[in-house]
Amino acid sequence: MNNVENRTLFFGDNLDILKEKIPSESVDLIYLDPPFNSNRAYNILHKNNGEDSPSQIEAFNDTWNWNTIGVQENFNRLVENKENIKISDLMIGLEKVIGKNGTLAYLSMMTTRLIELKRVLKSTGSIYLHCDPSASHYLKIVMDIIFGEENFVNEIIWSYKSGGISQCSFSRKHDTILFYSKTNKYKFNLQKESRDISELKKKYKQEDEKGHYGQMKKDGKKYYFEDGVTMRDVWEIPILNQLSKERLGYPTQKPEALLERIIKASSNEGDIVLDPFCGCGTTVAVSERLNRKWIGIDITPLAINVIRKRMVDHYPNIKINLDGLPKDLDGAKMLAEQCGINGRFDFQYWILSLINARPAPNKSKNQKKGKDYGIDGIIRYNETDINFKNEYKDIIISVKSGKNPKSPEIRDLRGVIENRNASGGIYVTLYPPTNDMLKEATLSGTYKYQNISIPKLQICLVEDILNGIMPLIPQSQEINLCKKAEKVEIKEDKSKQKSLFE
Ligand SMILES: C[S@@+](CC[C@H](N)C(=O)[O-])C[C@H]1O[C@@H](n2cnc3c(N)ncnc32)[C@H](O)[C@@H]1O
Repeated sequence: MNNVENRTLFFGDNLDILKEKIPSESVDLIYLDPPFNSNRAYNILHKNNGEDSPSQIEAFNDTWNWNTIGVQENFNRLVENKENIKISDLMIGLEKVIGKNGTLAYLSMMTTRLIELKRVLKSTGSIYLHCDPSASHYLKIVMDIIFGEENFVNEIIWSYKSGGISQCSFSRKHDTILFYSKTNKYKFNLQKESRDISELKKKYKQEDEKGHYGQMKKDGKKYYFEDGVTMRDVWEIPILNQLSKERLGYPTQKPEALLERIIKASSNEGDIVLDPFCGCGTTVAVSERLNRKWIGIDITPLAINVIRKRMVDHYPNIKINLDGLPKDLDGAKMLAEQCGINGRFDFQYWILSLINARPAPNKSKNQKKGKDYGIDGIIRYNETDINFKNEYKDIIISVKSGKNPKSPEIRDLRGVIENRNASGGIYVTLYPPTNDMLKEATLSGTYKYQNISIPKLQICLVEDILNGIMPLIPQSQEINLCKKAEKVEIKEDKSKQKSLFE
């Protein structure tokens, strides 16, 4: 099994990556925040400069169905598991009780991955499984069987206030985090949480020289309370609201404060933290800040792209190892040829990230042919006009992976550029264009950006982009896939990349 570099982001299904790339007993801490079986598709919000409404693209889907390809086979493998008969019995039992439905599909998907996660965890390691009341009761049984009831440490309740209010039930305002260790030799750094000073102040009025509040008892002794109390298993941490500085627009993004508690409690500096469902990279960002090594895995290039951007915004000199995204033409062809509609969108998102474009508004896997059909991405840049007014301008991106690119596609793109009053367009193709297409593109002429003439319609080969030959793009472009993360100073020079498992 290959060694993994520190700061590695894997694009792909975490099951394959765990099996193929992560050695046994190599990780100190695992935090996972898988989709919860919520029956929803999650959209990423990104603001369009110069436009009011945020537009959405689908980030990931949380709908589980027994009839999805591979579900029955996965379930069968668990039932036939000879190494852990309890898992087999559990699956048979669950099938009897809940039947072959989305919940069982979800639980078998989770079970397979939790078995692998236990394998990669060190004997001193811990795992935190973030879930919600829709499946936490089932997941606890699965965890008890995989990690052992004796290794159950805590059920953490993450409680928050904001969000919707229910009129016909108590408003649901908590998530559950199941904390298990691999053995009884797990690391644990006791954490303190600060007291509500205003409460103490009201109650006790007396203050000692250190600023601690307390009281003088009848015995004449003074009792003053420290600022911090030992942390309980109910955590009051606000969810990220619309105005939160941390918010990147990625659905289900968790607050850094939540991850900070987990990482500080169950790892030390230099330890390896793994997040196999890393979304927009909260675990990754907090691990970096707390000087831990990290590995993130996500199945969508969109998430990988958001994390890459989040980390570069935070630490401009950071070097991240990206694994699983194509590095050459053959890899690009493989990605494009992945069966199903997901493969096509993954390919597009990946190409768009290479040229720093953002996916077109309302582009989703379910989109039907419509007005903006054919626009895959947009690069928006700003320019000052003669009256010194800031003007936003668009470059329309069309990404094609078909083996026979044709002239009508260039004509279509030209039409879209005109209709949208865009400055220009970039047609990115996996396979070489025909001469007619090249001629057609030249007919479009040029546009000016700061006295430089840029072809109005550029045709680019994916292979060229991979070799660093980029289309001409106005430099002031504002990349706005999602909100910019706050910049953080790197305290020490950590640019040297070391293998995690040496
Ligand atoms: C609930 S989100 C995680 C959010 C994350 N904790 C954060 O703060 O941004 C779940 C993520 O798991 C990813 N995912 C779903 N199935 C996956 C799989 N089989 N392998 C890897 N990632 C997966 C989704 O793309 C999504 O980004």
